[in-house]
Amino acid sequence: MPVKTGPSSTPPSADAEPTPAVAVPHRARRAAPSVIEFRGVEKRYDVGAVGLDQATFSIQRGEWVFLVGSTGSGKSTVMRLLIKELEPTAGTIRVAGKDLAEITRKRVPYYRRNIGVVFQDFKLLPNRTVHDNVAYALQVTGGSRREIRAKVPDILRLTGLSTKLHNYPDQLSGGEQQRVAIARAFVNHPPLLLADEPTGNLDPETSIGIMQLLYRINRAGTTVVIATHDNAMVDKMRRRVIELSQGRIVRDEASGSYVRDESTREFAVRMRDGLPETSPIVEKS
Ligand SMILES: Nc1ncnc2c1ncn2[C@@H]1O[C@H](COP(=O)(O)OP(=O)(O)OP(=O)(O)O)[C@@H](O)[C@H]1O
Ligand SMILES: [Mg+2]
Repeated sequence: MPVKTGPSSTPPSADAEPTPAVAVPHRARRAAPSVIEFRGVEKRYDVGAVGLDQATFSIQRGEWVFLVGSTGSGKSTVMRLLIKELEPTAGTIRVAGKDLAEITRKRVPYYRRNIGVVFQDFKLLPNRTVHDNVAYALQVTGGSRREIRAKVPDILRLTGLSTKLHNYPDQLSGGEQQRVAIARAFVNHPPLLLADEPTGNLDPETSIGIMQLLYRINRAGTTVVIATHDNAMVDKMRRRVIELSQGRIVRDEASGSYVRDESTREFAVRMRDGLPETSPIVEKS
């Protein structure tokens, strides 16, 4: 299981800003709680629909995990439970050791600072530029102007958007819009990134660019959980796969045998295998 450490690999905490990673003795590192732990989690919606049924799994720091399953199988329910947009009807969810049931409504915004979320439909603010969409994410969590000046250009460079910062969302391609959404989700360097069908609206080549960007973020230490229908992508990535069917976990498979510590470029080349060669989408940082 790939456990990465890096500058932003701090475990999320319910009521604290991420703190810089420090050298942790090996024994202490092993004792660290899972980033995500579901124990017998059930979510029944009011109308009687089963969102999740007896789901038990844990995800370690630095992991990259795909959530797969047919439509209505419960993938988005997992995501929405994790950001405390929904409450489970039974079972326990812990994030970085913290029982989410203990987080009061008032503390939820602080808790969410530790999680970046990316959706299929981007959810950008149409009347704000690329720069301001990303800056807004910092503003709403209390970021100072100084912090915005320091962090926004960095994240726009990482996501390959430096030349588009004055564009409005409708002046961008789908892939660019998704990169803005990722920039916005990652500008606080959260230790956990959730992406719900991030490539659902994108063509294969653009999807690889987005995966490459998420891969780069994961390599820097962030735990990444991606819900997707893109089976070809999942097969190629050879990462851990949790499959849901009617709210139940029917498969939890560790990463395939030959994953090693690929560079972002090697990763993109392997993903493109079979697709026409193009230049890398993400700017060099
Ligand atoms: N707000 C809701 N009220 C009632 N039922 C819901 C609600 N949200 C989801 N469900 C039901 O819960 C089940 C799981 O839905 P969920 O959205 O988690 O599936 P999904 O795996 O994300 O599907 P998709 O691949 O289509 O996005 C489905 O049967 C769905 O109809
Ligand atoms: Mg969904």
